[in-house]
Amino acid sequence: MPVKQTRKKIDFLSLLDFERAELDEILRQAEGLKRAWREGSGEVPLAGRVLGLVFHKPSLRTRLSFEVGMRQLGGSAVYITDQEIGFGKREAIKDIGAVMSRYLDAIMIRTFSQEHVVQLAGAARIPIINGLTDWVHPCQVLADLFTLRERGHDLDDLRIAYLGDGNNVVQSWIHAAIPYGFDLRVATPAGYEPDAEAVARVAAEGRGRVSLLRDPVEAVAGAQVIYTDTWTSMGQEAEAEKRGALFPPYQINSELLAGAAPGAHVMHCLPAHRGEEITDEVIDGPQSIVYDQAENRLHAQKGILLHCLA
Ligand code: CP
Ligand code: NVA
Repeated sequence: MPVKQTRKKIDFLSLLDFERAELDEILRQAEGLKRAWREGSGEVPLAGRVLGLVFHKPSLRTRLSFEVGMRQLGGSAVYITDQEIGFGKREAIKDIGAVMSRYLDAIMIRTFSQEHVVQLAGAARIPIINGLTDWVHPCQVLADLFTLRERGHDLDDLRIAYLGDGNNVVQSWIHAAIPYGFDLRVATPAGYEPDAEAVARVAAEGRGRVSLLRDPVEAVAGAQVIYTDTWTSMGQEAEAEKRGALFPPYQINSELLAGAAPGAHVMHCLPAHRGEEITDEVIDGPQSIVYDQAENRLHAQKGILLHCLA
């Protein structure tokens, strides 16, 4: 009699948890899903499955792309915030994870602490997907890798400049430089650098390269991709004024963009603060691919959902 195989559950907590082959497979799957979606394919591999969407911070893209993605794959999603759950306050994470596992097939969570996401993954017997923490934003960067491939970039031969705050988005970009061979130049004001530990790890074992710089002009020089994000991430609102005074030299404007490679692509995970980290002229200009990035959250997320659930 054949022995029943029980597959180990797959969580999507950070890009550090994945080998190159696995990420490539998710990207290929997402590319196929985008093609099928364009052709109007009616395949519903997640029929009857339910994704829990737990948000402790606001969202437009992450919520919609997961919710719409589940519907397109034949499943559904239930949205709940921390006001109802009371993470670790009204109820222990251990109990939350165990109970949610009795109703749902997977959970996407956006919250502050990465540690809470790890604890939830330990407590739940269903896959946990990280929809952003203070530390990382792996779903965003996976969608960005997808967008760059779609635009014909070679992820192993690409110079990317990231300007601004050393936040969760660039942290995931640094993680992506372990499996992929791009050259990432990060320019931040002093005191706003990303984790040195991840940068050291790229130096020790990464296919790619990461340099931490101070000068935005040096970072942008010859880069084929220029990336930025808000100067004040969700949860840091009290620092907005201080940051607003320090970050203006890192604004992506036409003058700075002129130093990049000809036709360089401009990226932003959105939401953008027009006139702060990026000017209207650049975000609305021909080199901007920000709406492709936003759309590709949908396709990349569907790839992640299938990887974790199918
Ligand atoms: N880029 C991104 O995660 O957007 P939301 O915060 O709107 O989900
Ligand atoms: N760094 C931003 C990303 C928003 C999608 C934040 O954490 O608010």
